[in-house]
Amino acid sequence: MTDVPVHRYSCVIIGGGLTGLRAALEIADAGYDTAVISKVHPLRSHSVAAQGGINAALGNAKGGENDTWEAHAFDTIKGSDYLADQDAVALMCRDAPRAVIELEHMGTVFSRTQDGRIAQRPFGGAGFPRTCYAQDRTGHNILHTLYEQAVNRKIPVYEEFFVISLVHAGGRCVGCTALEIATGKVHGFVSGVVFLATGGFGRIYSRSTNALINTGDGASLALRAGAPLKDMEFVQFHPTSLYGTNILITEGARGEGGILLNSDGERFMDRYAPGSRELAPRDVVARAIQKEIDEGRGFNGGYVHLDLTFLGEDLIKKRLPGIRLITRDFTGVDPINKPIPVQPAQHYSMGGVGVSLDGRVTDVGGLYAAGECACVSVHGANRLGGNSLLETVVFGRHVAQTILKDLSGVQISSSDPVKDAVQQMERKLAAMLSRGEGEPLYRIMDELKVTMITHFGIFRREKTMIEGLKKVKELQDRFSGVIITHKGQVFNQALVQALELEGMLLLAEVVAQGALARKESRGSHARTDFPARDDNNFLTHTMARLKEGEIEILYEPVTLGMFEPKERQY
Ligand code: FUM
Repeated sequence: MTDVPVHRYSCVIIGGGLTGLRAALEIADAGYDTAVISKVHPLRSHSVAAQGGINAALGNAKGGENDTWEAHAFDTIKGSDYLADQDAVALMCRDAPRAVIELEHMGTVFSRTQDGRIAQRPFGGAGFPRTCYAQDRTGHNILHTLYEQAVNRKIPVYEEFFVISLVHAGGRCVGCTALEIATGKVHGFVSGVVFLATGGFGRIYSRSTNALINTGDGASLALRAGAPLKDMEFVQFHPTSLYGTNILITEGARGEGGILLNSDGERFMDRYAPGSRELAPRDVVARAIQKEIDEGRGFNGGYVHLDLTFLGEDLIKKRLPGIRLITRDFTGVDPINKPIPVQPAQHYSMGGVGVSLDGRVTDVGGLYAAGECACVSVHGANRLGGNSLLETVVFGRHVAQTILKDLSGVQISSSDPVKDAVQQMERKLAAMLSRGEGEPLYRIMDELKVTMITHFGIFRREKTMIEGLKKVKELQDRFSGVIITHKGQVFNQALVQALELEGMLLLAEVVAQGALARKESRGSHARTDFPARDDNNFLTHTMARLKEGEIEILYEPVTLGMFEPKERQY
């Protein structure tokens, strides 16, 4: 082994999106040395793509004056189909107004009401107009704010470093190893604690609004480290992605008044959710659109129309400029004059690394997680739009505060276990690169994505899921013979993708096993063979663990509290 680069910090944060950056600010402000490791430049994290907004019961909008954090909690729990843990939801909704005002004070450029307060718009499943926004570029604005704050504090960011293993010693996580993508060198990080903030795993699906980087790296690292993954079968499909590209068309478009029409010109949401129509929660709207398409009332077999034409040029230019540009650039359609072709696409991972309310990863000392890569769980079986950005900043800060409490008792490990892990990873990468013959990685990746959308999409049933699981296992076997044709060290993206794919295949199996075992329909998990929710048997969280190479599924009770489970009606 030649000169292993080893870095030492009190806290290493893996992921440079909103959760990771918000946590980094909290830890740095308390005087601890912390670093962020990110697969991409932080401003290219997927948080940047969030469009419509962030929820907080501020009561600024007309009609929202009586909003409360309790009403926000109720909407979130009902939206979750009662699978969310109610203590976690209460924590998030109570903290939301403070979190949004904090962002405003840090410099986020929110859109404004006439009298200068933060503007709020209606969103799906919400009883009041509660979603604070910055036009339709809310994530972009918040991410820039937090990144500027991190730069101001001179927090080190290891950008374009891909974390490839967590390191254990003395029964806890003591650091990680990471591939420096620019050079091919493996670095070691020795750390008092490690914080996972790596985002979702949407890219195991072929039709997804997610960035290509959303490959679930944190979840697969945690699973291999002995942590459970929770509720992974709950995969959200956003109702409106741009047909043909699956770029997100924000729910804010419906919040501003946009309507959905089928090929008969019918406003079909009247039939599916007469009380809320286009502003029913995402699971309801996505299923309705898919049903219209499946039953032959879509356009060209694959999409419906999102009509904004009657909103007027001024409103579209002022509040939805981003989706106007996207639609014009990618389809040639200007939504001021013509409806937007939309179809549902995978959008969000409700499941993730099992953590306590304070963000400690279950069964793995020294490891913490928050944001989309974790499942605390505030979204249960179906997330409401606008609650994801909120979760990142609330739990990024909250879990950082847990770390600050825990850090005082932590002795940072010697470098030896990390150095050993670096050597082990160097051998693994060399073996992957030296393979001369085999199957191209892209074929396995493509087949995985198609398998997941076909067998574990919006509607699911046992027979197709069994076939899908068989296919995932076949792909896992074929992965051992995968070949990386590019052998170079510098920016070897094929190598990075192979490492990502290894984890994605594992996560796909967890989704599949969880979906097969959950014999009910709840939120985003809609089984045609078990169409009803079954609270007697499944008001429980799925906990998947890796035991001797096999996925083991157990269940844990949901934390109830303020609101009794009821049938959802919209
Ligand atoms: O539709 C949207 O703007 C997405 C928001 C979200 O996922 O929270």
